[in-house]
Amino acid sequence: MTVHFIGAGPGAADLLTLRGRDLIAASSVCLYAGSLVPEAVLGHCPPGARIVNTAPLSLDEIIAEIEAAHAAGQDVARLHSGDLSVWSAMGEQLRRLRARGIPFSVTPGVPAFAAAAAALGTELTLPGVGQSLVLTRTSGRASAMPEGESLANFAATGTTLAIHLSIHAAGRVAGELIPHYGADCPAAIVWRASWPDERIVRTTLDGLEAAALEGPGRTALILVGPTLGAEDFAESRLYAGDYDRRFRPVGAAPRFPAREA
Ligand SMILES: C[S@@+](CC[C@H](N)C(=O)[O-])C[C@H]1O[C@@H](n2cnc3c(N)ncnc32)[C@H](O)[C@@H]1O
Repeated sequence: MTVHFIGAGPGAADLLTLRGRDLIAASSVCLYAGSLVPEAVLGHCPPGARIVNTAPLSLDEIIAEIEAAHAAGQDVARLHSGDLSVWSAMGEQLRRLRARGIPFSVTPGVPAFAAAAAALGTELTLPGVGQSLVLTRTSGRASAMPEGESLANFAATGTTLAIHLSIHAAGRVAGELIPHYGADCPAAIVWRASWPDERIVRTTLDGLEAAALEGPGRTALILVGPTLGAEDFAESRLYAGDYDRRFRPVGAAPRFPAREA
């Protein structure tokens, strides 16, 4: 018996890995975080599977479900939205499973920031403009931000920010970022990336608060930084015709001579 933690992706039912799909199909129990995991993903469960929405359950109740499956020797597919490495609450579940000696596996999923970038048709790292991406959030009722992880500190780098769980605080976000990026810095909001009602608004930091009122609900990602919509950036050296590299030796004395067959 194994508990398979599976990243269920940002919303579209076909943005799920083949491994994730097959594990769901092979598990007789499916526990899913119903607030964001699309119901269509549950179509991969086998006939007769026990399917439980964990949105209204406490951690103790979720672990009780897993323990019952463990006692019955049944595999569990545990679905969380996006990828499991960020804001999935997987960490506390794994800690309890380790303490109980219950085996688990982890299958990654498509995170919201990647789905939002795809919706915008943009690369979030561009040569000479931005080479880092900060995945962050603002503090919420259930989770305070650790000291040091302030928007101002991240903004000091000037790079691209992907701000989660913060659409309700768009005005505050803009206020904290404008001193670092300027009021005309490009920003975008993507609501429900990859869902049928996906919505995109491109704006500037100055317009962020007003833009936040335009979309459908709270499942939204705020992206900020000069890479958004930039056209005036250098091409990467890696693909330049004169760049000598292991996979494409160039010139009379290449740095990496081709191996003889
Ligand atoms: C609890 S976090 C889950 C993050 C998820 N584990 C991931 O890998 O992206 C929920 C937040 O992620 C963002 N989010 C999740 N799905 C999204 C989507 N389809 N479109 C835009 N933002 C999304 C929103 O900021 C939302 O408030």
